[in-house]
Amino acid sequence: MTEIFTKIVGTGSYLPSKVLTNDDLSKMVETSDEWIFPRTGIKERHIADDNELTSDLATNAAKRALESSNVKAEDIDLIILATTTPDLSFPSTACRVQANLGCVNAAAFDMQAVCSGFIYALTVADKMIKSGEYKKALVIGAETLSRIVDWNDRTTCVLFGDGAGAVVVEATTEKTGILSSIIKADPSYYDILKTTGGVSATKNAGSIYMEGKEVFKLAVSKMPEVSAEAVKNAGLSLSDVDCFIPHQANVRIIDAALKHLDIAEEKTVKTLQNQGNTSAASIPIALDWAVRNGMLKKGNNALLTAMGGGFTWGAVVFKF
Ligand code: UT7
Repeated sequence: MTEIFTKIVGTGSYLPSKVLTNDDLSKMVETSDEWIFPRTGIKERHIADDNELTSDLATNAAKRALESSNVKAEDIDLIILATTTPDLSFPSTACRVQANLGCVNAAAFDMQAVCSGFIYALTVADKMIKSGEYKKALVIGAETLSRIVDWNDRTTCVLFGDGAGAVVVEATTEKTGILSSIIKADPSYYDILKTTGGVSATKNAGSIYMEGKEVFKLAVSKMPEVSAEAVKNAGLSLSDVDCFIPHQANVRIIDAALKHLDIAEEKTVKTLQNQGNTSAASIPIALDWAVRNGMLKKGNNALLTAMGGGFTWGAVVFKF
């Protein structure tokens, strides 16, 4: 049987127009640009309007991904949307995006793996395409984290932002596209990064709670470890990586990862300065930025890695 591969054929992203700077935050809580920027690499983040929903952000990003791929909405047969901040408890946000785009022939569902959501969604899309039953998929990461941030908690509210990114993937028999992917989870860290509520537990969404130092330590060990494993599984070595796109949570975590993996700074995409941590949206936004700014070119090998609540983490290696 001919082997099927999953190729990324289009990318898109969208950030809401409202910008919240570190100086703006210093008027809301006891903080400063002098504290935030050196510790995180973040200068500003985008915040969705009250009437702008996760599905709106996702729809805009997906439209741009479709345009750049020349794939028609009706030819999409699968939509997987990674989010921690769905429009409603149900139906899925993916179904709302499906309606907005007119993807009338698609199966659609949401994926919840917090900041690893896009890595999980891309992995699942790849497996479904490899099965031969699906040909063209939209994989989206979209968040309105500003809705679940505790705006009185300076230890978390300075970190997060809203946004969406998307890719169009399609089946190919050429040996290109996704070469390896790994997803992992370890529930022993369930309580160090979570919300204070949820539909079943408290009948409301709650707000973000994080033990920052513990999360930091796990991130700097797990992301390089899984990245090296994914590169090896792809039959490549770390020196073959042309573009490294890690989860955009903290520039110090990214710097530690690239040092650990011995990947050059100029091959590493960093977009968090102007967007903060957008959870499941962070990798597809950074990926779209890399494509549109010439950092990721046709034929390049790219490495994506993320970690987030759960604990979940993973990595994807693909030839673009
Ligand atoms: O995608 C989700 C994954 N999340 C992450 O990757 C985040 C991982 N963690 C981190 O990035 C870092 O731990 C933080 C940036 C969140 C915090 O940096 P830190 O160097 O670990 O600071 P800290 O929590 O140890 O806080 C140091 C001090 C504390 O004051 P005291 O106790 O030393 O007097 C905090 O109260 O800084 C204080 N502080 C702040 N001060 C001004 C905490 N947040 C702020 C703030 N502004 N926003």
